[in-house]
Amino acid sequence: MTAPTSAAPVPERTPVAVVGGGPAGLLLSHLLHTSGIEHVVLEARTREEIENTHRAGILEASSVQVLVDHGLDRVLREGDRHDGIVLRFDGADHRVDLTGLTGRSVWLYPQTAVFTDLATRRAADGGDVRWGATVTRVLDADGDRPGVLWTDAEGTGHELRCDVLVGADGSRSTLRHTLPEAQRRTYAHEYPYAWFGVIVEAPRSAPELVYTTSEHGFALISQRTDTHQRMYFQCDPDEDPEGWSEDRIWAELQRRVAGPDGFRLVEGPVRERSVLRFRSSVVEPVRHGRMLLAGDAAHTVPPTGAKGLNLALADVVVLHDVLETWFATRDDAVLDAYGHRVAERVWRAQHFSAWMSTMLHSHPGETGFAARRRLAELRTLVASEAGRRFLAEGYTGWGPVLGTGPGAMSAAMPGGEGR
Ligand code: PHB
Repeated sequence: MTAPTSAAPVPERTPVAVVGGGPAGLLLSHLLHTSGIEHVVLEARTREEIENTHRAGILEASSVQVLVDHGLDRVLREGDRHDGIVLRFDGADHRVDLTGLTGRSVWLYPQTAVFTDLATRRAADGGDVRWGATVTRVLDADGDRPGVLWTDAEGTGHELRCDVLVGADGSRSTLRHTLPEAQRRTYAHEYPYAWFGVIVEAPRSAPELVYTTSEHGFALISQRTDTHQRMYFQCDPDEDPEGWSEDRIWAELQRRVAGPDGFRLVEGPVRERSVLRFRSSVVEPVRHGRMLLAGDAAHTVPPTGAKGLNLALADVVVLHDVLETWFATRDDAVLDAYGHRVAERVWRAQHFSAWMSTMLHSHPGETGFAARRRLAELRTLVASEAGRRFLAEGYTGWGPVLGTGPGAMSAAMPGGEGR
């Protein structure tokens, strides 16, 4: 079924046009609504398409805080709080006590659930979210009245003008391309591996997430519900997921987690499968005139550590603050400051995701030296409380989002002043 577009008349002008109705665009929409700032959201996909796309499942405590503070508290009832993760190598478990080390937990709550909560809430609040709305052209991004040409789900073309244009349109962003090439810098890193992701129908194999590396490569044992689990194992980026039988998938997962402790995964039917490519990228600047980028449109991270959604939500919290101030003052300096305010967290998350990925995956053609060095890194990390805390601080996300200057971030750490 194609979701109908909003029944409201098609607007020609709005203060904020948000391109992208994924979690970033919809959270921004929800926050703008609570501030009384009118806006329209244009999303190319249908609601059903987004709801059927599996994405990572870990929310940092500060992401949960943002949702709960703004009336979206299903995560507290239906999400699972996790106080630790397990690093498994040398065939043995090494638990990292996230809460004991940082005072913060994470929540297992899939991105699709965050999306559904936001979409349901925007609909209940009468938000103007247009599904199946494809932006075909950006108009005057650096002028005072930027806009977009867009086509609705029925194929009719429209023009929407605004004061501020937001690109929350994901890693294949259209709006990103309006940054003039002479100014645009893209920092990117490719990885020689990907994840084979499955949803399996089986009870949990472990109470906490298990990140494991062995001579056969990486695997992640995650969870979803009492009856369905999420698991991944490292594969070639060109792997064809349909080329694998269920037996072969289970054999691969089992041999990656195997160890002298006899740990085994509880098996069941494989319900879904896909290959997730790895890429790290950051585009700068994130502002061009009255056009600002947020979330995956501005940066992507590999899935190890599940930072992508958290980073997108963090961008949006700052962007909402920026827009509130801009509509009150019309001072373009606040738009300029946006990029600097988010950059610190973006690059910390880039580092963290690349570091965890590199430490836990075997590189094709890896030398014996490199493999042993990686294991030594893991052993050094878990043997040291400082090492475990370093991991736990990054995994739980460095504390609250707003005021993300270097001082504010360290003040949010346990033992700091907090805010
Ligand atoms: C997931 O459950 O989908 C998940 C969890 C942790 C990660 C990545 C993905 O690091």
